[in-house]
Amino acid sequence: MNKELNVSNLEQRDQTAASERAQDHVQHDRLQSVIAELATFGGRSDGGVSRETLTDPDLQARRYLIDLARSRGCSVTIDDCANLFFRRPGTSDLPPVLTGSHADTQPVGGKLDGAYGVLAGLEVIAALNDAGIKTLRPVEVVAWTNEEGCRFGPGAMGSSAFVDPSCLPAYRNSVDAKGVRFGDALELALEAVPDVPRRPMAEPMSACVELHIEQGPVLERALVPLGVVTGIQSVRWYRIQVTGTAGHAGTMPMDERVDAMAAAVGLAQQLYAYQAVEAGEKLRLTLGRWQVSPNSINTIPGAVEFTVDVRSVDEQVLVQFEAALKQITQAYSWAGKIEFESIFSRPPTHFPAAMLALIERACTRASSRASLAAPLRMTSGAFHDAMYLAEHCPTAMIFVPSKGGVSHNAAEETAPQELFLGVQALAYAVTSLANA
Ligand code: GLV
Ligand code: MN
Ligand code: MN
Repeated sequence: MNKELNVSNLEQRDQTAASERAQDHVQHDRLQSVIAELATFGGRSDGGVSRETLTDPDLQARRYLIDLARSRGCSVTIDDCANLFFRRPGTSDLPPVLTGSHADTQPVGGKLDGAYGVLAGLEVIAALNDAGIKTLRPVEVVAWTNEEGCRFGPGAMGSSAFVDPSCLPAYRNSVDAKGVRFGDALELALEAVPDVPRRPMAEPMSACVELHIEQGPVLERALVPLGVVTGIQSVRWYRIQVTGTAGHAGTMPMDERVDAMAAAVGLAQQLYAYQAVEAGEKLRLTLGRWQVSPNSINTIPGAVEFTVDVRSVDEQVLVQFEAALKQITQAYSWAGKIEFESIFSRPPTHFPAAMLALIERACTRASSRASLAAPLRMTSGAFHDAMYLAEHCPTAMIFVPSKGGVSHNAAEETAPQELFLGVQALAYAVTSLANA
């Protein structure tokens, strides 16, 4: 046998041993306590969390994360989109391995969507510290800005701007329901952390792994604790603006009204009918946000704006939906106006095979040591920051089950043991990548 091969086998064995030791140093109780602590920022009496991006609770949560990361020996930096990076140095200055997720929530969200991935990354750092492991590459944990997209559209702003900084100027002009510009909220967030140095965007990363709750019922129904995410389904968002004429609810005859709500409800019925009749389960349709003006019990609505969220694993289904949406809005016959605007569109994401193989190994070791079922390969129904990172470096995701498939809801929950196994799998994958 030649000597070089022996050396590389030895190195391979050392690296596997390091990945296993990192996995074995993940601590269940330490993870649970930071999940509970982070959930107090925007915490609700029903157990949920209201921490929309760049609100006061989000800024306080960011400070908590900065302090936590520093207490685990990380240096902290922030970029122009207020993405926060927590870095554990490597023995080289090679491009880092990135993990993490987002810390913002839906208007009413749970403790885990996003927060789990950020805290899992910081638990991996703690496990590496405890195991005394030096990695070749730095490990960076990121908390992306505005993944949810509910306060300022579109979603995944921070990760998309990181990958393509030319997006940021347009994002700055995005306005929330109260008229606040994203750009202004961003400046306040940056000013709130004068102790955190600025870093460039689009910096090279060697690989990225995002750990997240599934937010759907697949793993729970299969009785499988860990999912190897093969990709993310496509998504499109639209804003529909219906403009009629406001008027008196008691005096205006029904046949003389230009009632924006009547038209909006008519459009909504046609969209639901299209989904049920033409597309079925291939298309998921959500009309999630409605704004009615003047929103008064005794005034005929003069304007209604509503949003459309459509998802499919098959992008052609969304192409056909968009054609139907155009046709339905143009053909609607009434005296008012209907406009529609596309605000977000992503094709499906497919993660690379080599990353899936590593994630599968990492998950298999964690679940088999717990005597639980082998990991399942699956597509993500939700979108994630990883879909943009996949354009930047080899990327993958790990899922843990969501009880009842419930998410974007205060009742979102995952069994503590499954949360622990997810971080174990992440520790193995990140350590392997950081030594490659
Ligand atoms: C992310 O929150 C999504 O809507 O998929
Ligand atoms: Mn999320
Ligand atoms: Mn979410």
